[in-house]
Amino acid sequence: MTADSKQKRILSGIQPSGKLHLGNYFGAIKQHIALQEEGNCFYFIANYHALTTIRDTAKDFADAQKQPVTAADLLRQNTLDVALDYLALGLDPAKAIIFRQSDVPEVTELTWIFSTVTNTGLLERAVSYKDKVDKGIEASVGLFTYPVLMAADILIYRSHLVPVGQDQVQHIEMTQDIAGKFNRAYSEIFPIPNYRLDRGAKVPGTDGQKMSKSYGNTIDIFAEGKPLEKAVMGIKTDSTPMGQPLKPETCIVFTLYSLMATDSEREALAADYRAGRIGYGGAKKLLKAKLDAYFGPARDKRKHLAADPSCVEDVLRAGAKKARAEAKETMALVREAVGMLPRSVG
Ligand code: ADP
Ligand code: TRP
Repeated sequence: MTADSKQKRILSGIQPSGKLHLGNYFGAIKQHIALQEEGNCFYFIANYHALTTIRDTAKDFADAQKQPVTAADLLRQNTLDVALDYLALGLDPAKAIIFRQSDVPEVTELTWIFSTVTNTGLLERAVSYKDKVDKGIEASVGLFTYPVLMAADILIYRSHLVPVGQDQVQHIEMTQDIAGKFNRAYSEIFPIPNYRLDRGAKVPGTDGQKMSKSYGNTIDIFAEGKPLEKAVMGIKTDSTPMGQPLKPETCIVFTLYSLMATDSEREALAADYRAGRIGYGGAKKLLKAKLDAYFGPARDKRKHLAADPSCVEDVLRAGAKKARAEAKETMALVREAVGMLPRSVG
């Protein structure tokens, strides 16, 4: 790795929104973790952002589980879960930092300053705001100004690259606008960040639509045993009888298997499909075994970490300490640029 590439600052925020599924892993998390080899990665758990929806989430969760849960408890639990998931899946705190957004409260100060250079028209065009309001989420001021907080998240660490899914691209374009506007109005403090689309596979759910929490068609990364078996056996297939040739290209089981298989394993299964040597039941058993083998080490690591939450807390605090030092340096420049006293780092 060159010194230059190490200096590239890569940042992304992760919503603490409950259990992760294969779509999240192959679509995003796998790429996030691989990026720790390419630059200076900052990954944070977006718990300030989550406040815009957590009360709705808590209500849905309580209805589904048939037991009450407070929004605060759910936020705490989901935040810890994201940290456990990322660490278990291979995020290495020696290479990338992971922290809670709320452990760097300076980001809310920058949000305010940015809100004074952000035109309401820009925010009114946000598709994600409209989508959320259409889904019944309260049209709070926080939900409306969500992209301003996102701009502050990115720019307070003077990030260069933001890996995100397609749905977040508009937010990054708003960040570019806000950075340019601030730089022109006050001082050239911020690099204009670029996004990088998480170019992971589009993962189908058990019913063939895109795998998504909102469609109830997910296979969770950390599911195992009976619940995993139930999810895999529930994958939709056609009614071709056993012994007849099957088409791998249109089969959800084959697509999911291919995400984890080597080329030769994939070709062997495709040949068995075409020759009618395997039925859907057999293919599902292979898929379940593949999931167990592929995610087995991460499951073990997650259990190990979950048994000692103070260790995870230490990782989050150490991450926040580094992130906060960077944020304070940026805020000293920003405060001076807008006519306030610079605060010293420390
Ligand atoms: P969900 O649709 O379950 O609510 P999110 O919108 O929270 O998932 O997605 C979080 C990240 O995971 C995004 O970067 C998104 O692009 C990625 N992702 C989610 N589902 C899939 C999928 N089925 N295939 C590929 N990537 C996905
Ligand atoms: N809005 C992002 C999402 O829902 C999460 C997020 C918050 C984020 N702040 C960010 C992503 C900054 C990238 C950069 O997925």
